[in-house]
Amino acid sequence: MNDLDGIKTIEFGKRTILIDLNNDICISVNTQYMQACDMTDPDNDIIRLMERQKRIYNEHKRQNTVNTVYLFITNQCNLACEFCSIRSNKKEQLVFSELSLELLYKYIIPFINKVNPRRIIISGGEPFIHSNVLEFIEYLSKNVEAQISIQSNGLLLNNNTISKLVGKVNNIEISTAHFKNYDMLEYFINSIRKAAMDIVLSFVFDNNLQELYRILDITARYNIDLLVNFIAPTGSALDDNIEIMNSDKKIDLFKQMAKYIVQKNYLDTKLVNLFFRQIRVQKSCGGLGKALVVYPDGNVYICHSLAHKELSVGNIRTNNINTLLSNWKTLLKEKSIKEIFSVDYKKYCSDCKVKYLCGGGCGAEIYHGAILDCNFKKAMLIYNLLFYNPNNNSAENLKTFIQFCETKEYMKDIYS
Ligand SMILES: C[S@@+](CC[C@H](N)C(=O)[O-])C[C@H]1O[C@@H](n2cnc3c(N)ncnc32)[C@H](O)[C@@H]1O
Ligand code: SF4
Ligand code: SF4
Repeated sequence: MNDLDGIKTIEFGKRTILIDLNNDICISVNTQYMQACDMTDPDNDIIRLMERQKRIYNEHKRQNTVNTVYLFITNQCNLACEFCSIRSNKKEQLVFSELSLELLYKYIIPFINKVNPRRIIISGGEPFIHSNVLEFIEYLSKNVEAQISIQSNGLLLNNNTISKLVGKVNNIEISTAHFKNYDMLEYFINSIRKAAMDIVLSFVFDNNLQELYRILDITARYNIDLLVNFIAPTGSALDDNIEIMNSDKKIDLFKQMAKYIVQKNYLDTKLVNLFFRQIRVQKSCGGLGKALVVYPDGNVYICHSLAHKELSVGNIRTNNINTLLSNWKTLLKEKSIKEIFSVDYKKYCSDCKVKYLCGGGCGAEIYHGAILDCNFKKAMLIYNLLFYNPNNNSAENLKTFIQFCETKEYMKDIYS
């Protein structure tokens, strides 16, 4: 990696990536073209393109602000997924806690209005098991400006509940790997769409390929968004040593999904977004400094996967808002926190070519001392940087993706 007047350049053979770390922008250019350009001339095409990106970035930038507040409103659940990040499956050991309506009126709403996030994500546990979930959502939506999303396992949804969310909730994310009754899932998708709310499906892969294919079919039929996740070593997955998939297996799964999408001709659906990603500058794990998480016991943390004392900024019941926010600012400056979340502080990442496009991986995994295996992430970055062609159609780009996975062409770029 070289420096060019404050801009990092990474060369990958035919393409060079220019990264402006002060303005969080990056562009990919043809290496030969760049070598022929006079980079001292402020009027050359590359500098002009970067200046344009900088203007767009500055127009949309929100300095030092929280994008997302998570409200984990209960730790109870009607399911018991063995990998549960919030340990809701451990029913006997769980001390029941939920964010009450009183807590919402007195502390949570003023806190959210001070923080002014773009988005609130209501999650848990299972949000629809909360004793007053509908009143909670109604009061929240009337008293905050932010967009509201709910993460749910979907099993407690019904038409009555869905109708009561209309106008209050913008987006519902339903986890799907546990569904046995796909008719019921489709019925809810239809009801949510009729109610004009956005719907996203999520699926945690746990050697359940046939179930994943059924969810791909449903997602394609309704042309909705799908998130395919892997079990992360957090919560019960960490306590119980649940196997974490390695990068080779993840790459192989994505190859199989790509083949399935081509074979079923799902090429004009949102499913192709699973493979094609816009590359952005990332200096730290995505959530750092952008999220605050209120747990069911009122503790507020800086990461949704790390409910540990040293990552807490206080409790919403006992600390006033200014104290919570000043603790948050202090915590973000601490070296011990940067070592968990910021790429510049991670020895493991110091020589990585894509470090400022990756951000250094998940802080929770690093905190828990998981063996770092980021080749899947690197492979996806490299495919999108060097092989994906925006001028080609989805069929051509997926064909390149399958070839890319089969020939393991990414390996030479990872280690070059
Ligand atoms: C903790 S759940 C809470 C909301 C709701 N009960 C649900 O299942 O959607 C939020 C999301 O985290 C996912 N999740 C839970 N534990 C996980 C883990 N160890 N690794 C990856 N995803 C996990 C779930 O599948 C779900 O999509
Ligand atoms: S992941 Fe969601 S549905 Fe599964 S046990 Fe945890 S809270 Fe319940
Ligand atoms: S790809 Fe791996 S080595 Fe590179 S920055 Fe990300 S986590 Fe670190």
